[in-house]
Amino acid sequence: MLKGIAGRTAIVTGAAGGIGSATCRRLHAEGANVVAVDIDGAGLDALTAELGDRIVAARADVSDPAATETFFATAVDRFGSVDMFHANAGVESKVNPIATFDLADFEKVMAVNVRSAFLGSSAAVRQMMTQPSAGKIVFTASIAGLKSDAGVSVYNASKHAVIGLARSLMKETGALGIRVNVVAPGVVDTRMMKPLEDGLGALAGIDGATLKAALLAGIPLGRYAEADEIAATVAWLLSDEVPYMHGEVVTVGGGLYP
Ligand SMILES: NC(=O)c1ccc[n+]([C@@H]2O[C@H](COP(=O)([O-])OP(=O)(O)OC[C@H]3O[C@@H](n4cnc5c(N)ncnc54)[C@H](O)[C@@H]3O)[C@@H](O)[C@H]2O)c1
Repeated sequence: MLKGIAGRTAIVTGAAGGIGSATCRRLHAEGANVVAVDIDGAGLDALTAELGDRIVAARADVSDPAATETFFATAVDRFGSVDMFHANAGVESKVNPIATFDLADFEKVMAVNVRSAFLGSSAAVRQMMTQPSAGKIVFTASIAGLKSDAGVSVYNASKHAVIGLARSLMKETGALGIRVNVVAPGVVDTRMMKPLEDGLGALAGIDGATLKAALLAGIPLGRYAEADEIAATVAWLLSDEVPYMHGEVVTVGGGLYP
């Protein structure tokens, strides 16, 4: 068991998706109370039915300021505190060269990936400042927040922004004892990958399966990550096992980075 998780309360966004649901399962197994936030109500229902007690579903659009305040209030009402916050919800962008940009896609990706992280971490800090025990925040960025590929400038920009946000936040919260870190996955086997494989393939003039084979060939471990391998790192960063880790960007990429 990881130190400092049992009996404490975590909010996880994107909780119905691959990495978010894996994080909920892991934190719940470590003994945490979990508030699972997602826009996908059916996915949340399945997760809460699976985990049973100590989990509350909060259906919300994480880019909405009022909804964000509401799911934090739900956590405090139900469990009394918010000790861990995993700002994880995110969407892939369309694969589009900048010359043929899609402004609606830009606005959507920035709202879900960046505005939500900004709103959620602000609410987390405000709540954690009122509590006796220091809190922890982990953002899900991506290796796409550290390096870039053609055709996915919007997604790359959003994940660079998440890392910038976390690095600024950690300077504000260090003196408060609130630890802030980032997990930067490489390629994870979740719903998000198929549209990216197809889109990047189309950009290169090949099909999605051929593009996937090329992607795999570039990963030293030779496979995509499983979501629970990312969740393990998130749980570790949210635990009391690593009290001096603050402002770190932890890549989990099977050798993809650098
Ligand atoms: N899959 C990968 O290869 C990969 C790699 C690096 C980083 N990431 C990041 O990991 C995070 C989780 O992605 P995933 O791979 O688990 O994908 P996923 O699509 O399985 O999960 C994303 C979840 O976010 C939810 N969501 C989307 N918009 C929302 C909104 N407005 N409000 C609330 N919830 C919303 C979705 O319903 C979904 O359940 C994302 O931030 C993603 O960018 C993924």
